[in-house]
Amino acid sequence: MLPIYIFLWLMLEMTSARPQYLGEKMFTFPEETNMTYVKVNASAEDLAAITICLRTFTDLTRAYSLFSLSTPSSVNEILLYKQAQAKNKFVVQVGDGVAAFVGQNYDYYNYYYLNKWQSICTTWDAETGLVQLWINGKASSRKFVSHSNITGNFTVVLGQDQNPEEGRLHRSRSFVGMMRDIQMWNYVHSEMTILNYHRNDRRISPKGNVFDWQYLDFDIIGNVVVEPEQKLSNN
Ligand SMILES: *[C@@H]1O[C@H](CO)[C@@H](O)[C@H](O)[C@H]1NC(C)=O
Ligand SMILES: *[C@@H]1O[C@H](CO)[C@@H](O)[C@H](O)[C@H]1NC(C)=O
Ligand SMILES: *[C@@H]1O[C@H](CO)[C@@H](O)[C@H](O)[C@H]1NC(C)=O
Ligand SMILES: *[C@@H]1O[C@H](CO)[C@@H](O)[C@H](O)[C@H]1NC(C)=O
Repeated sequence: MLPIYIFLWLMLEMTSARPQYLGEKMFTFPEETNMTYVKVNASAEDLAAITICLRTFTDLTRAYSLFSLSTPSSVNEILLYKQAQAKNKFVVQVGDGVAAFVGQNYDYYNYYYLNKWQSICTTWDAETGLVQLWINGKASSRKFVSHSNITGNFTVVLGQDQNPEEGRLHRSRSFVGMMRDIQMWNYVHSEMTILNYHRNDRRISPKGNVFDWQYLDFDIIGNVVVEPEQKLSNN
């Protein structure tokens, strides 16, 4: 018989077997802290185009980072963040380029909806260099960011910016709330596919080929809770 500690170690190794099934689950980021994020193991090494989609729920009115992809040569090769409510902008950074987007499905007071699930998708391709943002199925203008491919092993982080000043992460940019259904592809999806994603129809919504939420390979750093998804407040 195996000594108990070896048995426990084997159990631990087995429960951290990757990837994990996350269908019907969500990540809850329950506190404002610089110690918490989710690191996703993505399988591509060279990207000439992307589509990234995710769903978020939050009551944050300050700025926060949702998605950050770094390469050995750049800490924020791709960055998706929301500026403070007063500025009312979503920002997508790819390579050296930055594009800011305004006016997509804001409410009567021009605030981004709080306490409601929102779908957010962004696309970019190196050939045109154009990025586009979709919020709740509503398209943005297409704006130029970068012609350069994204190369090298990359690291994807959810809920924090990988561009820390003074070598550390900042709680003032951390995400607090829930996130689910995070998908990434190495090509640009059609408008119809992005609408299908927004409508949350799992039968026709495609699965990411860079990573797929259903079988995500990830590490949790700090206090992020994997819970059954709550999706009633979609509207
Ligand atoms: C990431 O996934 C690849 C296979 O897709 C695997 O070989 C590698 O060990 C994983 N890396 C980590 C840090 O889990
Ligand atoms: C960018 O990537 C595409 C697809 O992998 C490739 O065909 C193209 O040659 C790359 N461009 C550069 C400048 O490396
Ligand atoms: C990516 O990482 C793996 C393992 O750390 C390494 O073998 C490989 O050379 C790296 N590739 C690039 C393009 O840096
Ligand atoms: C978080 O912030 C504290 C206080 O500013 C700092 O000491 C620490 O290094 C930061 N941690 C990380 C992971 O950035």
